[in-house]
Amino acid sequence: MNRLIGKKILITGASRGLGRQLALDFAREGAPALALCARRVEPLKAAQREIIAAAPDTNIVLIEADLSRPMDIERLFAITLHEFQGQLDVLVNNASMLGPSPMPYLLDYPLADFQAVLNTNLIGPFLAIRKALPAMIEHGGSIINVTSDAGIVGYPGWGAYGISKFGLEGMSQTWAAELEGTKVRVNWVDPGSMNTAMHRAAEPDEDPCQWADPAKVTEVFIYLASDESQQVTGRRFQAQELTEQPVAGKNYYD
Ligand SMILES: NC(=O)c1ccc[n+]([C@@H]2O[C@H](COP(=O)([O-])OP(=O)(O)OC[C@H]3O[C@@H](n4cnc5c(N)ncnc54)[C@H](OP(=O)(O)O)[C@@H]3O)[C@@H](O)[C@H]2O)c1
Repeated sequence: MNRLIGKKILITGASRGLGRQLALDFAREGAPALALCARRVEPLKAAQREIIAAAPDTNIVLIEADLSRPMDIERLFAITLHEFQGQLDVLVNNASMLGPSPMPYLLDYPLADFQAVLNTNLIGPFLAIRKALPAMIEHGGSIINVTSDAGIVGYPGWGAYGISKFGLEGMSQTWAAELEGTKVRVNWVDPGSMNTAMHRAAEPDEDPCQWADPAKVTEVFIYLASDESQQVTGRRFQAQELTEQPVAGKNYYD
């Protein structure tokens, strides 16, 4: 408990699934201020009610924003930094789109869907990190990108989603390398299979009970958001195994 006292945190895609659970657990760990975004505001309000019931002192800012739109990202950060009085300690790039369900093979993948998925899952985090850095560079900060095993294995049918996560993994490595020697750390986490709306849409014929409750995967995120991980950057984590995984190619940090 209380590992996140003083930490002001922005979580994208916080209205349901993993993002909502992260917001709840970060608040329980004493984070004083959370900025939560999603495209739909009503589920965000429900998340806020749940958090306030568990951690009444948390200052929560809700922002309706579509991460596939650069103008929305501008507004998201303007509001967040205003409400946080310029302090941003942690950015969790969690929001993602799966794309069409059932999931088409690449040959049949509609271009507009392909672009929407890449805009949300890859370009969105790229722009969000650029907006977060000025607030983090002096005092330090932790950037956590949410990836997937579909970002290291090209599964048939996982098309644009998997490709966006391959891109996110490479981008995370590049950001970490370019920020080496600063107080800003960049790590990425594969939460593993979870029982969420996204996974149910991806595999509607499977029994969702076989997948983890998001509440079971938040421990590594708390660690990465906290000062315990102050020296940790450029690392890939698997949340359900609580393991750090080797990053392919040159490892800048060994
Ligand atoms: N579920 C799994 O088994 C699994 C496995 C590996 C990795 N992951 C990763 O874990 C993260 C969370 O996934 P999840 O399963 O919790 O997903 P989810 O249940 O579908 O929730 C996604 C969240 O992101 C928001 N969102 C979606 N598109 C958005 C956009 N364009 N702009 C802003 N917000 C957007 C959604 O709200 P709105 O729809 O209102 O915008 C919602 O709050 C994702 O990065 C996913 O790739 C999940």
